[in-house]
Amino acid sequence: MTTFSITPVTPTIGAEFGNIDLRDTLSDETMADLERAFLQWKVLFFRDQDIEIEDQKRLGSWFGELDIHPTTPKDRKNPEALRIAENEEVRAHNNLWHSDVCFRLEPPLGSILRGIEIPPTGGDTLWANMEAAYAGLNDDIKERIDGAYAVNAWPVTWIDLAMRKEGVTDREAFRRDNPDPEHPVVRTHPQTGNKSLYVNTAFTRRIVGMDQAESDELLALLFRQAAIPEYQVRLRWQKNTIAFWDNRCTQHYAVADFFPQRRVMERITICGDRPA
Ligand code: OGA
Ligand code: MN
Repeated sequence: MTTFSITPVTPTIGAEFGNIDLRDTLSDETMADLERAFLQWKVLFFRDQDIEIEDQKRLGSWFGELDIHPTTPKDRKNPEALRIAENEEVRAHNNLWHSDVCFRLEPPLGSILRGIEIPPTGGDTLWANMEAAYAGLNDDIKERIDGAYAVNAWPVTWIDLAMRKEGVTDREAFRRDNPDPEHPVVRTHPQTGNKSLYVNTAFTRRIVGMDQAESDELLALLFRQAAIPEYQVRLRWQKNTIAFWDNRCTQHYAVADFFPQRRVMERITICGDRPA
């Protein structure tokens, strides 16, 4: 018998999944319900989950193979666990609207992030519903981006980290093996068939086949869509809050307002397929 609850946080994005203990082995029925809620609400929140990394991995594994971030050293004990520890010295770098790891050809399906150490105030995260953001564009713009592709670039500093991980010293060779991918500007969700806007401020550099000025102007307009409050949900974290988002149809933004307080998070990432 399933006793969990689903409480929407906004009308279109974000729902709290209650009465569930992620330390339990969940039935296929519960997992199917959880997946349905995930596809509908795009980001699920779970509170008071005093779990181990193995529990976080088990939840992720139900959805697919677990990803190892390109900057994580291979020889680490739990390489699937990505720690995000921010303080006065190591500033947040996620305070830009983005979709995770879209500088790879096959970006993640989703990520599961747990609050380990949360500042007393500040350090919220926002997600934007990029299906609503696409739907909100006027028809002229939709026509201009229909069938278009954009280049999503590897951040320069992350190339060095990824090279160190792979033991690669030749930067040009790495760039040849890991070219900046072109992804569709509007992608179709592989499970729901819904269209969403798939360009973001952090990684998208230019639209293929346009001159830079035209591309810059159009991208600036498209980037603004994620910043519209009507498409967003905002999470106030507590220790052991978990957020599980669909990386294919949302973007997120970590608010960097809590320094000199510390904030520590841990992420598990699920492999996804090539955007189409
Ligand atoms: C991430 C990320 C946001 C946050 O884990 O991909 O962007 O609030 N984190 O820490
Ligand atoms: Mn992110």
